[in-house]
Amino acid sequence: MRLNLLETALMNNPLRAVLQRRIEAHRLLELGGGLGEGRALEIGCGRGVGVEIILDTFGAASVDAFDLDPRMIARARQRIHDRGGRARLWVGDATALPLPSERYDAVFDFGILHHVEDWRRAILEVRRVLRPGGRFYGEEVYSHIVTHPLWRRLLHHPQKDRFDHDQLSRALSDAGLRVVGSREVRGWFGWIVAERSVNR
Ligand SMILES: C[S@@+](CC[C@H](N)C(=O)[O-])C[C@H]1O[C@@H](n2cnc3c(N)ncnc32)[C@H](O)[C@@H]1O
Repeated sequence: MRLNLLETALMNNPLRAVLQRRIEAHRLLELGGGLGEGRALEIGCGRGVGVEIILDTFGAASVDAFDLDPRMIARARQRIHDRGGRARLWVGDATALPLPSERYDAVFDFGILHHVEDWRRAILEVRRVLRPGGRFYGEEVYSHIVTHPLWRRLLHHPQKDRFDHDQLSRALSDAGLRVVGSREVRGWFGWIVAERSVNR
């Protein structure tokens, strides 16, 4: 689901980039470690700050990234035009990845699954494109916020079948992604790193 005007403004905002770089990326790095030149995918990359973080902070050799919204991809292209062949962008949907299986060492989700109606399908796609032993790094906003009457008025999110930290952890495990580290803040949002089992 695309962002409404208010959330578009909140996402394309210098403060959001500072939070993403200084807090969210560091939590995920503490929980899951760096990539050591691996190949990464970012789902729902927005304006491309995550792509820079995955290259610069996690040390990925290359990042593929996509977003449902072509306007976000246009912004991301401007942002990462100087990264040469290390970053590739396209317009796409997290529930149907046009990608071969077992391609990536890591898949990143900076706050997009709560925007996806069939988020369980997106998790299955994440698992499919991760190589065995590869890692999912996720930062997510939970049902307590997404379905809160105030936020429902202001922002535009799917309301059915949303998830909390435990439900997200369970869905990852059910899909064959073993949670190796996680942190939750007051049931509002959290960070999760999960590894694709070698034998599933
Ligand atoms: C809250 S924003 C986060 C953007 C970016 N990851 C960030 O942290 O700044 C959620 C993003 O997910 C995208 N999105 C929503 N549903 C999607 C889907 N099914 N597939 C891919 N991207 C999606 C939206 O267009 C939006 O850019």
